[in-house]
Amino acid sequence: MPRHLRGTGDLLMGERFLVTGADGCIGAWVVRLLLDGGDEVRVFDQGANNARHELVAGGRPLDFERVTGDITDGEAVAAAMAGVDRVIHLAALQIPFCRAEPSLGAAVNVVGTVNVFEAALGHGVAPVVYASSIAVYGGPDDYDSDVLAADAPRMPRTLYGAYKVANEQTAGVYAAEHGLRSVGLRPHTVFGAGRDQGVTSQPTVAMAHAVRGDPYAVDYGGVLDFQYAPDVARLFIAAARSEPDGAPVLNIEGHVVSVAEFVARTVAVTGFDGIQVGTDALPLSHGASPAGLAELLGDVAPTPLDDAISETVAILAAAEPALVP
Ligand SMILES: NC(=O)c1ccc[n+]([C@@H]2O[C@H](COP(=O)([O-])OP(=O)(O)OC[C@H]3O[C@@H](n4cnc5c(N)ncnc54)[C@H](O)[C@@H]3O)[C@@H](O)[C@H]2O)c1
Repeated sequence: MPRHLRGTGDLLMGERFLVTGADGCIGAWVVRLLLDGGDEVRVFDQGANNARHELVAGGRPLDFERVTGDITDGEAVAAAMAGVDRVIHLAALQIPFCRAEPSLGAAVNVVGTVNVFEAALGHGVAPVVYASSIAVYGGPDDYDSDVLAADAPRMPRTLYGAYKVANEQTAGVYAAEHGLRSVGLRPHTVFGAGRDQGVTSQPTVAMAHAVRGDPYAVDYGGVLDFQYAPDVARLFIAAARSEPDGAPVLNIEGHVVSVAEFVARTVAVTGFDGIQVGTDALPLSHGASPAGLAELLGDVAPTPLDDAISETVAILAAAEPALVP
C-alpha cells in the first residue's frame, strides 16, 4: 500500500532517512513525524535511549531501525549512511557539555559533522541537512539590533557556537570542492516535549514542573526566540527533501517573547504559579531573520504559541513520570 503522498499528486513509497542524534529532543520529533508520514527511519545515536521517542509517540509503535554508534567513528557513520535516501544530522553536544569537555565537544560537533559529510559524499546522499545554531552569532550587545539580519557577522561567544561556525564553513567547502549540497538550520530556543538538556531547555523544564505542581526557578530572564520542537522538526524534514543551491544556512523564526511572558502563558494553561524567572539575559541575540527559509522550504509558519504550550502541557501531563525528567 502506498505510504507517502507528495505534492506532485503521485502516490510514492516513503523514503529512507538516516537521523543522527535521533534520541534527542529534535530528533525524537523528526523520527515521529517521519514515521507518521510513512517514511522509513534509521536512527543513529550513541545510546539506545527510547525515552524521548516514547514521550512523543503517545503509545504509537517505535518502528524504526536502530544503529548504536559514535558520530566520531567515521566508519560507523559511513556504514549507517548505506542505502538511505536522505540524511538529517542532529548529533551534537550542547553548550554546557562543550564548556565542560572542549576536546570531546570538538570531536563530536566538528569531527562528527565532517564524518557525516564524508559518508554522504561516499554514498551520494544529498542534501546533507545539519543543525547549526543561533549560537554562531554573538549577544545582543554585539549588534545594533536585537533581532539580527541573516548576514550579521558570526561572532560566537561559546565553544559550542565556534564549533557550529566550523560546521557551516565545512558545509561551504564540501559544496565548493565536491559539489555536495547541504542545508544548515539554526534553531534558537527549542521547546516542547523532550526538551530537557542544554542551556535553553529551562523554560520547558519549568513547564514539566508546573504540570507536576512542583516549584522551579529559571536561572535567566531576557528575550528568546521560542521555537516549537515539532515545527523545527518539520523544517528539518522539509530541508532534507529540498533542492538547495550550494550550502545555504538559514535562521528559523518562532515566537520572540520574554522568558517571563513564556512562563506567564504556561501558568495560564496549568494554573500553577510556582515558577520563578531570573533577571539576567543569556548572551544570545533575541532572534535572527529567517530570510530565504520560506523560499526554500515553503510554509514555515510556527504553531501559535498558546497552542504549542497547551499541546506540550497535555503531552507532559499524560506521560509516564519516568519519561519527564
Ligand atoms: N534544542 C535547541 O534549542 C537547539 C538550538 C540550536 C541548535 N540545536 C542543535 O540541534 C541539534 C539537536 O538538538 P537537540 O535539542 O535535539 O539535542 P539533544 O542534546 O537533545 O540531543 C542530541 C543527541 O545527540 C546524541 N549524541 C551526542 N553525542 C553523540 C555521539 N558522540 N555519537 C552519537 N550521538 C551522539 C545524544 O545522545 C543525543 O541523543 C544539535 O545539533 C543541537 O546543537 C538545538
